[in-house]
Amino acid sequence: MANNSPREHWGSGIGFILAATGSAVGLGNIWKFPYITGENGGGAFVLIYLVCIAVIGIPVMLCEMSLGRHTQKNPIGAFGSISPESSKLSHFFGLCMLLTGMGLLLFHNYGMAVLMFVLGALVFAYSWRVVGFCGVFAGFVILSFYSVVAGWTIAYFGKALSGGLDFVDKVAAEQSFSSLVANPYYSIGCHLGFMFLCVVIVMGGVKKGIERWSKILMSLLFLLLFILILRGLSLPGATQGVAFMLSPDFSAISTNSVLIALGHAFFTLSLGMGAIITYGSYVSKDQNLFLSTLSIVALDTLVAILAGLAIFPAVFAFNMEPSAGPGLVFNTVPLVMTQMPGGIFWAGLFFLLLIIAALTSGISLLEVVVAAAMDELKIKRTPAVIGVGCIIGLLGCLCAVSVSDWTRVEWLHSGLTGLFGVDDASFFDFMDNIASNWLLPLGGISISIFVGWVWGTRKAVEEIRHGSHNFADVHLIALLAGLKDDPSHNSDYHVLTLAALWGIFIRFISPVAVMIAFLYNIGWI
Ligand code: PHE
Repeated sequence: MANNSPREHWGSGIGFILAATGSAVGLGNIWKFPYITGENGGGAFVLIYLVCIAVIGIPVMLCEMSLGRHTQKNPIGAFGSISPESSKLSHFFGLCMLLTGMGLLLFHNYGMAVLMFVLGALVFAYSWRVVGFCGVFAGFVILSFYSVVAGWTIAYFGKALSGGLDFVDKVAAEQSFSSLVANPYYSIGCHLGFMFLCVVIVMGGVKKGIERWSKILMSLLFLLLFILILRGLSLPGATQGVAFMLSPDFSAISTNSVLIALGHAFFTLSLGMGAIITYGSYVSKDQNLFLSTLSIVALDTLVAILAGLAIFPAVFAFNMEPSAGPGLVFNTVPLVMTQMPGGIFWAGLFFLLLIIAALTSGISLLEVVVAAAMDELKIKRTPAVIGVGCIIGLLGCLCAVSVSDWTRVEWLHSGLTGLFGVDDASFFDFMDNIASNWLLPLGGISISIFVGWVWGTRKAVEEIRHGSHNFADVHLIALLAGLKDDPSHNSDYHVLTLAALWGIFIRFISPVAVMIAFLYNIGWI
């Protein structure tokens, strides 16, 4: 039985940081961030996104890490092992969900109402474990559309190698992308190819599979990114593109943009669904969780900004629309690169970068579900990986088909239209919306409320102190002033320490911020 063997751990601290950074840095940074920035007006959106990362991303990531390392369990088991049998707070949330469901019925939002009723009932039955369930469910949802986009990157890499990216103009580039997307067999083939790679790596286990490959792939990713940035900034439209990213135009911002920025902050840092709880459960006690969190967040943010800086100059140099949507990266990059000397080579490198970024994130999504299946259903890694891989493979096929032509899956189309009123948005958009705008923010608030109010900041900080010595207890002002070694600044615990600041964030600021954005989204404020 899988349960009888001791839990696997990362071989080294840097191995863990690279694996978690690999999870965070993905299509979210290089494919999604540039196009949502383009659609939401550029600089102002970047600013809001950075605020979300600082106010919500860092505190919630630390919550997930401490939960994972303390319990040494998958997300479902983690909540199960430290939540009280019956928690008043969870009953309160269960009731809120039932009431929200009734409210949604009044607004004729039947699909969401049913979801809320089911969730509310589950919360009454399973208390906080439901947060873990939702995380695992999000793993299925996200990987099924994520692997479709990852499949497109494989297709484009193939095209680059075979010289098929030599577009004469913008129209030809756009046509090439739409014909790829419209061909379900090709999309499905590439999606399954990507899933196969994820399955093979995750089957190797934590140390020999995920850690070994994350180390190799992440080193390659940083090298490729560095080369491509130098290339991007030497383009003629560079200054205009950089200005688009860095000068804020607040008139382009709507409340919806704030919600997208918030949802993306969770998505890009792999938060709100237990990926970091799962990776944290393989961490040893001597790892500094504070510094690990800061390094992962910093690297992820850096890659997103650099990807924007590499792509927008190209967009402006070739007079393309910055708000072109999901096709942005697939249309502009080949067009620009192939017109430069050695273009095919550069385009090939770029799509290789995307494949690598997607792969290290895909394996973390798969691992969340696999770890839960292994622990909770007591099955071994190999059958767990194969079973989960097949289910997600099938869901992904539906996503791929729905993007090409909804009418091929009419039952799904009419079902979703009837329940959720999704109209023209494909199953792919639907899955993305459910995950990024609902599951991850709600999961994120629940995790921070659980750590701040149920498990307790005190116990969480005790966990964080292992491996970070007195880092959490340093007087914040003394730290900024360079006086952290002066004992008179550290003796009094009524001062603002990093730990105290974190506690305030996870108990009040992060949940309230997410809640407000969330209520805006459903149109209640
Ligand atoms: N963070 C990944 C990205 O930016 C996506 C992801 C989300 C991975 C959630 C794991 C969990 O692409």
